[in-house]
This record gives sequence, structure tokens and C-alpha cells, in this order.
Amino acid sequence: MRPRKIRENVYAVGAVDWDRRLFDALIPLPDGTSYNSYIVRGSEKTALIDTVDPTKRDILFENLRDIASLDYVIAHHGEQDHSGSIPAVLEKYPKAKVVCSPKAKGILMDLLALPENKFITVGDGETLSLGNVTLEFIHTPWVHWPETMVSYLREEKILFTCDFFGSHLAQSGLYVTDEDRVYESAKRYFAEIMMPFRTAIQKNMERLKDHKIEMIAPSHGPVYNRPEFIMEAYRDWISDKPKNGVVVAYVSMHGSTESMVSHLVAALAERGITVYQFNLAEIDIGKLAIALVDAATIVLGTPAVHIGPHPKIASAVYLANALRPKLKFASIIGSYGWGHKIVEQIAAMIPNLKVEVLAPVVCRGLPRDADFAALEKLAEAIALKHKELGLK
Ligand code: FEO
Repeated sequence: MRPRKIRENVYAVGAVDWDRRLFDALIPLPDGTSYNSYIVRGSEKTALIDTVDPTKRDILFENLRDIASLDYVIAHHGEQDHSGSIPAVLEKYPKAKVVCSPKAKGILMDLLALPENKFITVGDGETLSLGNVTLEFIHTPWVHWPETMVSYLREEKILFTCDFFGSHLAQSGLYVTDEDRVYESAKRYFAEIMMPFRTAIQKNMERLKDHKIEMIAPSHGPVYNRPEFIMEAYRDWISDKPKNGVVVAYVSMHGSTESMVSHLVAALAERGITVYQFNLAEIDIGKLAIALVDAATIVLGTPAVHIGPHPKIASAVYLANALRPKLKFASIIGSYGWGHKIVEQIAAMIPNLKVEVLAPVVCRGLPRDADFAALEKLAEAIALKHKELGLK
């Protein structure tokens, strides 16, 4: 995309990455992403807010062709999809200084091999005058690294947030026009990188309350000209109260576990519970992460492979444990051929999940009447627990 004017002397100069399909060699990006970068031209100084992934550096430089001199590069976050083009920017503009939090300085020096004299560190609440406009820096740790901060352009009431409130979504327009579409992309993003830091985000959101924000300009995805849309979504996602939902994630090798899953899902649905059923043999793992943002319960369905859970289940359990969702309950169902330690092994893998484990249902071979009855009992126990929490 070419430079696009947002306000007088504020321009979007970043790059859209339509084709990227995987982030961090892990996270599927079905809708691509963008690396947003912004120019703020004050009457005396010019600042570049974040850069772009090095793979899109040429686009950034093309968009900077009319910028003769640059005084500051505001680095909200050390990760290379935003910082990776800073060395090249400093080569082009040797007088520019990198403005970042004290923690970011060390990170950027190590990740990008930048010399110490290129940095100006800013404290929480500190300001930087560009002449007729002022940037205020607000430290917002753990969105999603410890050094992260946002900046607020006071005169225009624009909050530049980097990953915070971002979405992995490639689109030609600069602004959010389809909130439902952006909601899904932003929730995927939140689920995959922000969810473990819900408590920190609660504090950061609280701190933003005193700022009148007319626009949120993140460094991924479209710009929000109705900030309340994404702030309201975040308030819901970071709340401690889950919804009346169950994630059922499973793998089946010969159909026994699948048959148990089908029975349990029907029994839960009959009790008015929303079920998110995922066959992990085929799933986009991002969909599982999205469902974990709200669910009160997770049920893992697995056959025994040797004596432990199927490796695809182990991988999903590892991810769920790392994402620290607000789950309250968990259970395990599955089938084995000659022996198993499914329950013990999965239980040992979820120390971060503060869940009550409800009675597992594991059978040998094909499930029989007694096993289906046990699944019915499990569905009833889940419904009761959700009711006790006031979930509807
Ligand atoms: Fe978009 Fe944490 O980088």
C-alpha cells in the first residue's frame, strides 16, 4: 500500500502481507496480516512509529521516499515483525534515535545488534514533543512481552498500540469496516499471544481509562475509528468469568474415542451448553485457541498411543497450558487397547490450568452401555458445575 493519510501530518506507511500463512512458525494466519508503521510529522520533528517485518522492508522504504529526515523511531516492542527494519531505517536516517522503554533497549540491542548510543529511553508517562504535537508514552507491560508500551498522540487523540488490540488481517482498506470480521481476527490474535497475560492486560486497560481515545492505530490489522468496539471485546476476553461453553478436543484412531465424543457432545448440547468440537487431526489450532478464550470446561478425548495420550492431544494440551485460559473444569475421555496412563500423563501436563478435574471416562476398546452412562454422568456433572458458577 502507498502512504495513506490518517490525520493532518499522520500517515500510515506500513505493509500488508496478504500471503503470510504462519506466524512464529506456529500460528496459522488464514487471512494474512499487516505490519503497520506510521509517520507523525510535527512542526519541528518527525517520528516513525514502529517499522515492518524485514520481508516487507522495501515497501516501508518506498513509502518513506518523501521523508527527507527522521528524528525518532518509536519502538513499542522488540519483536522483529515491528523492529526488524530498524537497523535499515537507521542506516537511511543516521541521525534518528530509537525511542523505547528501558526494558526494550536491552532487548533491541540484543535482537538487532544496535549500538547503545542510538537509544533514548522513556519512562512511563513521559512525553516527547515534535513541535506542535506531543507523544505521550504509556508503559503497558506484557502485551505481550515485558518491554511493551503504547504511545498517545495527544492533539489527535490517537493511541498507537503495536500488538495490543491488533488483528492478523490483510485488507486493502485502512480502517475497520466489517467489525464482525475484525472481531474474529482480533480474537484469534488475542487468544494466541495475549491470553496468558490477562491480569496484566486488565491493569493496562485500567490505565488507559483516563485518556480520551478517538482512534486506535495498532501495528497489525486495520485501524479502529470506533475504539470502543475493540476495547469492549478485550474487556470481555480478559474478564475472569467464563461462558457456558465446553471445548471438546479429540483424536480418534479407530472410532472408539470419536463415538464417545459424539455421545458426550450430544449430552452437553441437550443440557443447553455450547460445545466447540475439534478433531485435532485436521484442525487449525487457532480455532481451538479462540474457543478457549471463553470456555469454562475442556474435555480431552484421546486413544492411548503406547500408554500415553495421542501426540496431537499432547501438543494441544501443551498449548492450552501455555495459553492459561480461564477454564474452571477439565476432564478426559478415551479408549485404550491393552493398558494406559492417559489420565496421569495429561494431568501432569497442565500445571498452569487452575481447573477441577471431573471424573474421566476411559474404556477398553469400543464403548459400551456403562461407558455411555458414564459420559451422560459427566455431561450432567459439567452442567451442574456451570450452573453453580451462574453460567447460562
Ligand atoms: Fe507483532 Fe509481538 O509482534
